[in-house]
Amino acid sequence: MTRPFLEVQGLGKTYPSPQGPPLTVFRDVNLHIQKGEFVCIIGHSGCGKSTILNVLAGLDTATTGAVIMDGQEVAGPSLDRGVVFQNYSLLPWLSALKNVTFAVKARWPRWSRDKVAEHSYKYLEMVGLTGGAEHRKPHQLSGGMRQRVSIARAFAIQPKLLLLDEPFGALDALTRGVIQEELLRVWSGTNQTVFMITHDVDEAILLADRILLMTNGPEARVAEAVSIDIPRPRQRTSIIHDPNYYAIRNHLVEFLATRSKELAGTANPDGDDATPQVVQFPTQGFPRPVTPAAATKAPIGAPTSSAKG
Ligand SMILES: Nc1ncnc2c1ncn2[C@@H]1O[C@H](COP(=O)(O)OP(=O)(O)O)[C@@H](O)[C@H]1O
Ligand SMILES: [Mg+2]
Repeated sequence: MTRPFLEVQGLGKTYPSPQGPPLTVFRDVNLHIQKGEFVCIIGHSGCGKSTILNVLAGLDTATTGAVIMDGQEVAGPSLDRGVVFQNYSLLPWLSALKNVTFAVKARWPRWSRDKVAEHSYKYLEMVGLTGGAEHRKPHQLSGGMRQRVSIARAFAIQPKLLLLDEPFGALDALTRGVIQEELLRVWSGTNQTVFMITHDVDEAILLADRILLMTNGPEARVAEAVSIDIPRPRQRTSIIHDPNYYAIRNHLVEFLATRSKELAGTANPDGDDATPQVVQFPTQGFPRPVTPAAATKAPIGAPTSSAKG
């Protein structure tokens, strides 16, 4: 078997506390992510999503476990991994275009000035930021425009892994919808692997190949990996007509509303080294998730027997 592009093995984060026992935020996180896959992770605030993302980025270290990308252990930040945070981490004194060229120059120091500008401009164009807006500084741009710059910059350096931490969390619903579809368009033209945190289940269904569900902290873990087999290209207006859309959505909402709490602090039933339970739709006997063994037996397109739950 070939190695997955990204392997997360036994990741855990524990903080010592001055009084009392140490605090374990999450533990036993085991994941395999394939090249070109779009993975979203959902879980309540404080369960450790950002910490996991920062460990993948090499910006934070885990207490236990390791992250291996392309066969090499992640140890520190690298231009192979691009990160987009919620609060548009742009350099305020540079124009939108210069924010992108700055990163492109760092990535390809030998490129000519023209080549850097052309490449940067192409990515700003992909996110619809041209016609003068590219020369404005961050404070002269709306939140949505600033986030477009961040996305253009992250894609422009063509990282092997793109890490997005609630990138649209601060945007209004309308702008968010537009940028989600832009992100999908840019991503589908590349073979970039994306790991994205979101708290928006509709956003996750629209974007992801797989959605990871985390239990509440402390001692959080990734309990399930829900496979999203809705055909691509996807659009917000059309995916709701997919026969599995509402079953998937209900499963995610139900996990967040009740099971994330019920499962808090419990161990993976398949053992500490096991990857999260795989859930696929249509399931037999919804809402109970199918086990990996059962999932392979259930042919895609098989009728859902009791979708009422
Ligand atoms: N220095 C620290 N000491 C103790 N706990 C910490 C420290 N830094 C972060 N935490 C805890 O780690 C948890 C995970 O944080 P974070 O990864 O930001 O979660 P999320 O992104 O899921 O909201 C939080 O509950 C926070 O209280
Ligand atoms: Mg966070």
